[in-house]
Amino acid sequence: MFDVDKFIEEAVADLQSKLTGKTVIGASGGVDSTVAAVLADRAIGDLLVAVYVDTGYMRKGETEMIENMLKDLGLNYRVIDASGEFFEALKGVIDPEQKRKIIGEKFIRVFEREAKKVDAEFLVQGTIAPDWIESGGGLRDTIKSHHNVGALPEKFDLKLVEPLRDIYKDEVRKVARALKIAVAERQPFPGPGLAVRILGEATPEATAIVREACAIAEEEIDRAVEEGLMEVPWQYFAALLPIKSVGVMGDVRAYGRTVVVRAVQSVDAMTAAYSQIPHSVLERISTRITNEMRNSVNRVVYDITNKPPGTIEWE
Ligand code: XMP
Repeated sequence: MFDVDKFIEEAVADLQSKLTGKTVIGASGGVDSTVAAVLADRAIGDLLVAVYVDTGYMRKGETEMIENMLKDLGLNYRVIDASGEFFEALKGVIDPEQKRKIIGEKFIRVFEREAKKVDAEFLVQGTIAPDWIESGGGLRDTIKSHHNVGALPEKFDLKLVEPLRDIYKDEVRKVARALKIAVAERQPFPGPGLAVRILGEATPEATAIVREACAIAEEEIDRAVEEGLMEVPWQYFAALLPIKSVGVMGDVRAYGRTVVVRAVQSVDAMTAAYSQIPHSVLERISTRITNEMRNSVNRVVYDITNKPPGTIEWE
């Protein structure tokens, strides 16, 4: 049985002994990095600088929300707008692994730059067990290089400390609740952000489409949950496919893009079952996406694949 209080006590003590100087953490606003940041803050206070990097691949309204949360948690934080740099680095890149590597590396470089500014010696990361197990850290083959792991360059200027390395998502959520972190009930979001929800080149235009589609899928599913039409899925979002199909808009032939909606039930992300969403809810999502993005999207599909064989994200 996982003992939350004992975990917190030991993690804080361990961080206190390891973090003997200025420390940075990438605060993405996700459960993992927020929990790691609060643990580190408890251990070393303002020796910790939480750096939030706006990669340009964040969800709708996310940057404002995260900034408010970091403020409320009393963390010593900075917000860096690096979106231009990330879009530039991903120009022409379509291979999912290459995207992940480039984003991870860029992240580290941005950190290193910020770390130098504050004279940091340590980097705390919210890597959890499935991140490194799926990145080939165990006996298994590499499935995807998760953002926190695969991209670490060989020569790394900061000393890495990972307080959540041995625990799983459901345990992180328990710790978050115990630490009274508001983000505790939020669904997970991948480190590389919306870039891995765009199959093909993650341009600013494609990002705007998938950002809106994700927001609509989330809003409609949240609404359906409130109305008692369905249970809240473990994770739910939209991705943009690299195919166009023929449709009709008014009386005119349209040739538009396709959005796929994904919703799954899971406990620890290692396996997942697709959510059996009522068709009426799927229809609301589809109608809103094709109405509100009529100039770019003319088809919406629902993913009915479990994990395995599918992964939760499409890249
Ligand atoms: P997959 O797609 O591998 O995802 O079934 C499992 C869970 O991990 C999230 N995910 C990531 N989280 N960095 C992260 O911190 C990443 O690079 C990353 N890729 C996927 C995904 O959203 C799901 O919850």
